[in-house]
Parts: sequence; structure tokens; C-alpha cells
Amino acid sequence: NNTILTDDFGRKHNYLRISLIEKCNLRCTYCMPAEGIALTPKKELMTADEVFAMAQTFVNNGVDKIRLTGGEPLLRKDFPEIIEKLAQLETEISITTNGILIDRHIDVLKQFNVKKINLSLDTLVPSKFNTITLRNQFQKVIDNLHLLLNNDFKVKVNVVLIKGFNDNEIIDFINLTEFLPISIRFIEFMPFAGNQWDRSKMVSQTEILDQLSVHFSESNLEKLEDEKNFTAREFRIKNYLGSFGIISSITNPFCDGCNRIRLTANGKIKNCLFSNSETDVLTPYRNGEAIESIIASAIKNKKKVRAGMTTIEDVDNPVLNQDNRSMIAIGG
Ligand code: GTP
Ligand code: 5AD
Ligand code: SF4
Repeated sequence: NNTILTDDFGRKHNYLRISLIEKCNLRCTYCMPAEGIALTPKKELMTADEVFAMAQTFVNNGVDKIRLTGGEPLLRKDFPEIIEKLAQLETEISITTNGILIDRHIDVLKQFNVKKINLSLDTLVPSKFNTITLRNQFQKVIDNLHLLLNNDFKVKVNVVLIKGFNDNEIIDFINLTEFLPISIRFIEFMPFAGNQWDRSKMVSQTEILDQLSVHFSESNLEKLEDEKNFTAREFRIKNYLGSFGIISSITNPFCDGCNRIRLTANGKIKNCLFSNSETDVLTPYRNGEAIESIIASAIKNKKKVRAGMTTIEDVDNPVLNQDNRSMIAIGG
């Protein structure tokens, strides 16, 4: 039964993304504003017990996939405790991480059955890594990627494409899939507060497909079946071990199949990645109120496409594309 998690368009929300923290140990310019963000006081953030209680309520109502995000989720000091608690619930747990702290946490991930890791890595050139993240950690991320693969984790690599910066690396990333069993996901750059988005910096799905057709013959480029409620449309080069996908939130959204609901680190429900209207569940929870009806109303208010931005022009329209959080405080 997941009736409170079903919206007016019949979409069942069985996938909860929980942001554990607003801090990160990188400074990716497409995610975090240069001036930083005002951090929420610690007492307003969910504790490990509160994360568990929230997750339990959602699982009781039909959620069977939880993804932990951030900021950088592995920066939470009590990350092992959170994972241990969540492992009691009947749900899959996965994380999206920048990879830097994977070696520190790999044992706890294995112990509590976290098998799927999505890793952010936007370039294969060390100096460019420093330019986009403002930190010198390229080799650490690469080492941890191999550590994950050697330990049989299922790894997806997220690549946010930015025109003139890394769109000349699309083929290099795909070449990695020849011998590595990973899925690369090329992501259209999306607008969030302070990330200097403009449409001309975005590399569209069509442009990506055009590059592919120059480099690979049609008979070598296989379209794979997309995952249920997919974000990425997936492909493989014939006989390669890995695969790749395109996440086209701007030019070709996938909202019809949206099954995602978000909980921010300070306990607010976001019913859409692009919605600036948030519903506080942590305060009522702390006041001893039942939160199911609050969750239900947050789901009811969800718009059909991108928080009401139906067309690509709408994304450029400040009346429709209103102040949202910075990506660092949403978690993707
Ligand atoms: P899987 O569960 O492995 O499919 O991962 P995911 O794509 O749901 O999550 P991930 O954290 O790896 O996010 C990859 C990219 O997809 C990020 O840029 C996210 O912002 C974007 N993304 C994730 N969920 C949504 C969503 O609901 N809507 C949109 N438009 N983009 C999303
Ligand atoms: N546009 C698209 N994807 C983004 N991410 C962060 N900021 C943006 C943005 N502006 C991605 C990160 C991470 C995922 C959770 O979200 O690369 O992999
Ligand atoms: Fe779901 Fe909003 Fe993402 Fe569309 S943009 S897939 S409605 S979260």
C-alpha cells in the first residue's frame, strides 16, 4: 500500500532521497555557490535517530529505495550509525558520493549491504578536476573508484557536462566502459541558486548523441532497456563491459515516470528537485505530531513536470523558475 505516496497523476513515490548534510569536501562550481551557503545550525538538522524515524515512516508507506545524499553524505560523523539503523528497514540503500571518503567507509558499506554507489566525477584530466572542484583530490577519487570495483560494488559515474569544459571528454569517458563494468551518466547542467547556469553552458542530449554518431557506427551503438522510473536513457557500445546513459532533465525530462521524493538535511520534504515550496516534517515530528498527513499533502501538491516548468523556455523564465536551494543543500 502506498496511497499517501501516490500523487494526482498516479505516480507512486517509492524512492526517497535523504540529504544527510549540507557540507562538502569539494567545491564544485556547478553545485556550490562561490560564496558558500549559510549553513543550517546543527540543532535544526536531523539526528541519526530522526533520519531513521523519517525513513521508517516512508518505508511503512511504500518506499523501497532510499538514496543518501548530501552535500557529501560520507562527511557525516555518524554515517556508520545511520547506515546500521537504516539496514533494519526493508529497503534498498544506496549513496551518491564524490568518492573521497570511500576507503574510510567501505567496510561499513559492505557490512550493511550497500551495493550501489553513484560517484561524481566530471573529468579524467587531473588539472581540470582541480579547476571544477577547487580541490586537489583527483587521484583519491580514481583510487576509490577502483577500490569499489575490486569489492564488487555496482558503480555509476555521474558526469555533469559543461560546454567548453568537459564536453571534449565524452568519448574518453565512454572508452572507460570498454574494460570497466561501470555506467557513465552524462548529465545536462541544471540551474540552481548560485551555480552560474545559463542555457549556453548546457550540453544537450542531442549534442551528446551527435558526438556519438561521429565516433561509433550505428551498428556498434546499442540502445539498452531503460531502468524503471529512469533518470538516464541508457546505451552500450557493442562488446564493452560497461554502459552509459544520458540524464536530460532540461531538454527531455522524465517526469512522467517520477517516483522520487526528497527529504532535506533539515527535515523538509521537497516534492520535486525544482520545487522551491518545501514542507517541514521535522518540526511537527519533534512536537510529537503524526507526519503521514503532512507527507500526503506534500505529495498532493506535486506538479506534473519540473515544478511547473513544462517547456525549456519555462526553465529560463524567472517567474516560473523561482529561487530554489543551491544544489549542495538538495543533494541532486
Ligand atoms: P539511480 O538510482 O542509480 O538511477 O540514480 P539517480 O539518477 O536517481 O541519482 P543520482 O544521485 O546519481 O543523480 C544523478 C543525476 O540525476 C543528478 O544530476 C541528479 O540531480 C539527477 N536527478 C536525480 N533524481 C532526479 C529527479 O528526480 N529529477 C531530475 N530532473 N533529475 C534528477
Ligand atoms: N546540474 C546537474 N547535476 C548536478 N549535480 C550537482 N549539481 C548539478 C547541476 N547543477 C549532480 C552531481 C551529483 C548529483 C547528485 O547531482 O554531479 O553527481
Ligand atoms: Fe520528478 Fe521533478 Fe525530477 Fe520531474 S523534475 S523527474 S517531477 S523530481
